[in-house]
Amino acid sequence: MSRWRLVYEGPGGEHTGTREALCTLGNGFFATRGAAPEARADGVNYPGTYIAGCYDRAVSTVDGHRVENEDLVNAPDWLPLTFRCGDGGWCTGPDPAAPARTELDMRRGVLTRTFHAVDGEGRRTRVVQRRLVSMDDPHLAALETTLVAENWSGRLTVRSALDGEVANTGVARYRGLAAEHLRPAGAGGGAAGTVWLRCTTAESGVGIALAARTRVSRGPAPVHSAPPARPAWAGCDLAVDLPEGGQATVEKVAALYTSRDRAVGDPLGAARAAADRAGHFDALLRRHAAAWRRLWRACAVDAGDEDDRRVLNLHLFHLLQTVSPHTADLDAGVPARGLHGEAYRGHVFWDELFVLPFLNLRFPETARALLRYRWRRLPAARRAAREAGLRGALFPWQSGSDGREESQRLHLNPRSGRWVPDHSRLQRHVGLAIAYNVWQHHQATGDVSFLAEFGAELLVEVARAFADTAVYDRALDRYRIRGVMGPDEYHDGMPDRSAPGLDDNAYTNVMAVWVMLRALDALEALPGPCRTALKESVGLAPEETARFEAISRRMHVPFHDGVISQFAGYESLAELDWAAYRARYGDIRRLDRILEAEGDTCNRYRVSKQADVLMLFFLLSADELAGLLEGLELPYDPGLIPRTVRYYLERTCHGSTLSSVVHAWVLSRTDRAASWRFFREALRSDIDDSQGGTTAEGIHLGAMAGTVDLLTRCYTGLELRDGALHLSPLTPAELPALSFELRYRDHWGVRLEVDGESARVSVPPSAAPPFPVELKGRRATAAPRTSCELPLH
Ligand code: BGC
Repeated sequence: MSRWRLVYEGPGGEHTGTREALCTLGNGFFATRGAAPEARADGVNYPGTYIAGCYDRAVSTVDGHRVENEDLVNAPDWLPLTFRCGDGGWCTGPDPAAPARTELDMRRGVLTRTFHAVDGEGRRTRVVQRRLVSMDDPHLAALETTLVAENWSGRLTVRSALDGEVANTGVARYRGLAAEHLRPAGAGGGAAGTVWLRCTTAESGVGIALAARTRVSRGPAPVHSAPPARPAWAGCDLAVDLPEGGQATVEKVAALYTSRDRAVGDPLGAARAAADRAGHFDALLRRHAAAWRRLWRACAVDAGDEDDRRVLNLHLFHLLQTVSPHTADLDAGVPARGLHGEAYRGHVFWDELFVLPFLNLRFPETARALLRYRWRRLPAARRAAREAGLRGALFPWQSGSDGREESQRLHLNPRSGRWVPDHSRLQRHVGLAIAYNVWQHHQATGDVSFLAEFGAELLVEVARAFADTAVYDRALDRYRIRGVMGPDEYHDGMPDRSAPGLDDNAYTNVMAVWVMLRALDALEALPGPCRTALKESVGLAPEETARFEAISRRMHVPFHDGVISQFAGYESLAELDWAAYRARYGDIRRLDRILEAEGDTCNRYRVSKQADVLMLFFLLSADELAGLLEGLELPYDPGLIPRTVRYYLERTCHGSTLSSVVHAWVLSRTDRAASWRFFREALRSDIDDSQGGTTAEGIHLGAMAGTVDLLTRCYTGLELRDGALHLSPLTPAELPALSFELRYRDHWGVRLEVDGESARVSVPPSAAPPFPVELKGRRATAAPRTSCELPLH
């Protein structure tokens, strides 16, 4: 199979949902699952269209409790199209006995279905269907259907519709909860072949307008008619007479606008005009493919064998469909599961930590917009901090429209059928991820105005909340952070304590120190007047910065058995009998559910869902970590990292796809073979649906971006600090060479090539100043129009 194609033969059966998620087409503004246009949500098929940042809140009752949830809204469906032969029934899908093929062309962003349909009278029609969601004009999508009357002649009627009779029912676990988010606001037809639909999200009041124009582009002239419109559904029929063997090609072009779009008066007017104006499918395709060509030029990674490249392209493809250059103009965050399904309700977690490094070095404007999504929600984060008695800002673990905490208080364990308390909102470390991204963005772009405008404010506000959370413990003579959760969600409290939360999660404590130090650096990097203005506007007292410094010298970081402890008291937990659990259950990635169903809890054991302490080695270089620990007067020796990695690796069940990315990263310097295994695991997580049925509910965006980042930053040892590009390549044996382009500061298209012998950096012509490149203490200068090569040995 080529590196640009994802091909499925035959019917999807129980994997239909996974295929739909992986065949999603999108452009950063909206995305549509790869469901069949003739299908409706029926337990097997699940058509879904999601608009970036379009959320709605609804209230449900669960076990007598009032539960409020905000969902990324399943928007009206632009795709519906079906047909019938003569007076036969409407086609509801391919003939399961005939060959059928679904092919995703990732290079051009086109999904093609080829199948046969046979009706009750045995009339056989061959169908070839192509679709796109335009990367050129983010409001447009198009579907082209060619129908061939293979063994019959007569009237072919095509029905094309817009369907607002949809709800958020894509995730079985949520089905007991309110799912209706759309209120109809009119539907109908205009000139022959055109339909429109308008609705409003129930609580958030976002107006959504769709218009579509359907015409026969090749074949006999059609007779138009219109089935009666319903409040949230409008369709049109086009009928043509075909001889046996004859064919017709029908094009549907849809336009989607919302009341939040810019430069738009009336969304429905804009949608109707756009659908009317849009060119033919082929013209739209040309512009769409050209837009993709530009994206691929900026992002392609040349590495691995043909199949690895295909999956890597799939990851890049879905990443760019979720957060594209079009996202730069939106108020949207990074939805953990893409715009591809309804898992986690389309919420924004800390996963941007895995996504922004990619964007910083290719599409910094998009990265900046995603950080601005956080900045716009600083008022909500400040309110959360005030409520907790803190200065600064506490960002929510799950974020949606307005930045309030969206994490649920209960979640369903499908294994036991019980609703159990969900304390994941105690994952305060989400703020650290935002602050980390701010600093990385600044390092990649060198953009001081970004810091001045809002980057430094984010960093400082996060640092302040952590400084206020830290409490001085006289007995230890250290600061402690109590009552939080780390990234390992399987521990939400101590077994012998009724209050949820853990003390001194090492990841949180160390990164809090790092963030406080970077906040001080950011203040220092600001031009004087900006620094004064920022301090004034947030009311940063001199004693607060002094506290940052004090904490950065005396934060508590627990250790046991010569390794960093995940949290205070970790060493008192029991060891799990891993062999027994594996033997009994096989797949134990969801150990939390298994133990809860047994009436037990992960809190009693030394088990981790995913990397927690090890996140430190993922985010910080060994030198940086050593520096931090030395500053804290804590022990550091060169064996600390490998020892700690080994310790937790043996106790981690990888219940999150993020886990394999982090493990591939932290093993890359000490065990290249194991690192490669984890890399490949991360690479296979969605294409093989390795978390067992979760891909159907949305892709795992962090893991997808993480695989690209592993190749481009981890295996090349690429670090951005002190205004220089640092390299330290150590590639797995399976990866003899790799090359890709990146944007660094004001240089576009900087090519980096690494093989076993050397690293080469080539810089295209520009007026930007040269920059230093460093590899193992050797320094070279990369200047426009030149290449520099540094030997590895
Ligand atoms: C992981 C979190 C992640 C979330 C959304 C969870 O399973 O444990 O770390 O943020 O999924 O991707």
